[in-house]
Amino acid sequence: MKRIAVIAGDGIGVDVTREAMKVLRRVNDVLGRQLEFVEFDWGAEKYLREGVSLPEGALEMLRKEFNAIFMGAMGDPRVPNMRHAADILLGIRFGLDLFANVRPVRLLHEKLCPLKKVGLDQLNFTVFRENTEGAYVSVGGVFKKGTADEIAVQEEIHTRKGVQRIIEYAFEFARKQGLTKVCMSDKSNVMQYSGGLWQRVFQDVSSRYPQMKTWHLYVDALTLQMVRKPHEFQVIVTNNMFGDIVTDLGAALQGGLGMAASGNINPNVTSMFEPVHGSAPAYAGKNTANPMGAILTAAMMIDYLGFADAAKSVENAVIKCVNEDKMTRDIGGSLGTREVGDAVAAAL
Ligand code: NAD
Ligand code: IPM
Ligand code: MN
Repeated sequence: MKRIAVIAGDGIGVDVTREAMKVLRRVNDVLGRQLEFVEFDWGAEKYLREGVSLPEGALEMLRKEFNAIFMGAMGDPRVPNMRHAADILLGIRFGLDLFANVRPVRLLHEKLCPLKKVGLDQLNFTVFRENTEGAYVSVGGVFKKGTADEIAVQEEIHTRKGVQRIIEYAFEFARKQGLTKVCMSDKSNVMQYSGGLWQRVFQDVSSRYPQMKTWHLYVDALTLQMVRKPHEFQVIVTNNMFGDIVTDLGAALQGGLGMAASGNINPNVTSMFEPVHGSAPAYAGKNTANPMGAILTAAMMIDYLGFADAAKSVENAVIKCVNEDKMTRDIGGSLGTREVGDAVAAAL
């Protein structure tokens, strides 16, 4: 039995999670009830009502009692400082030490790509985003706040261990998948200290994989090449902030944020799976959000839990719906969130 904690969260997180759960429940029937789901109401609503973001003891509970976490999205305009999201989303990423944010960029149908003449085999790579350090550590401060002389300091932290484990994880993924190329991206021409560390570790790890073609791109050049020559990429490894930015671009190449899946992984800990998109408050509860990113995320999660065939079936069901134009408006369809969820569940 695999236990899954479900945190729908805020905004369209709720809408897309409902559809992903539809599909997961269907999968579970076929698997003979090998999955158990427990839903948690953590998010803006609870935070505003009770002042509780991530409840006390939550991380220990997730670590001990669950095999995976499925999350919708966090973010609500009523909590402008994103306090609850920082506690819950970043709290789980950091607190459970989920160091690898794995974000596939894969085109399911030519019609979804905004670029001209990109075939399915020409857009299929995975971004490995470092997920526990970099600009996300919240180290820094302000001085003379609110005055004309105000100073803000926002530090980044990059550790050898942290850089090494994400780069090694990316290489191991490439090796296991029979891939041949790994690209590392940073901004070492300007950020010489952190970039230098990334460069040294990348060279170090590369030397242990002599068969692998390895190369480096500054992150500005990476965004250019992702658009100009996306077929060149198989595996990209980069830091936390650059990974965040380039995976929104990656999402656009696949059809938009509604199509992009991700996993926050530490192979030794309860890992968390969430679509790349946020809570898109303007679309919340309107039956317009695209649930496919969340459904593909669910596929990633059950693959991770050892149900590779079931995961493939879910992916194929999404592809079938895309082929038949059973899609939401953001990617050129005319169906609502629920109707797409129904169509994918039916296609399984
Ligand atoms: P967003 O991803 O929520 O939305 C940006 C735009 O992308 C939307 O306006 C919409 O046009 C489109 N979009 C996103 N998801 C879609 C879907 N499933 N179907 C159709 N269209 C979709 O990003 P944002 O507007 O920058 O942020 C909104 C809130 O979400 C903020 O509070 C932000 O901090 C938060 N956020 C949370 C996460 C997360 O929980 N992992 C990720 C990103 C942003
Ligand atoms: C993402 C989001 C988050 C991030 C925000 C909401 C903190 O943009 O998951 O990509 O920056 O990691
Ligand atoms: Mn993001």
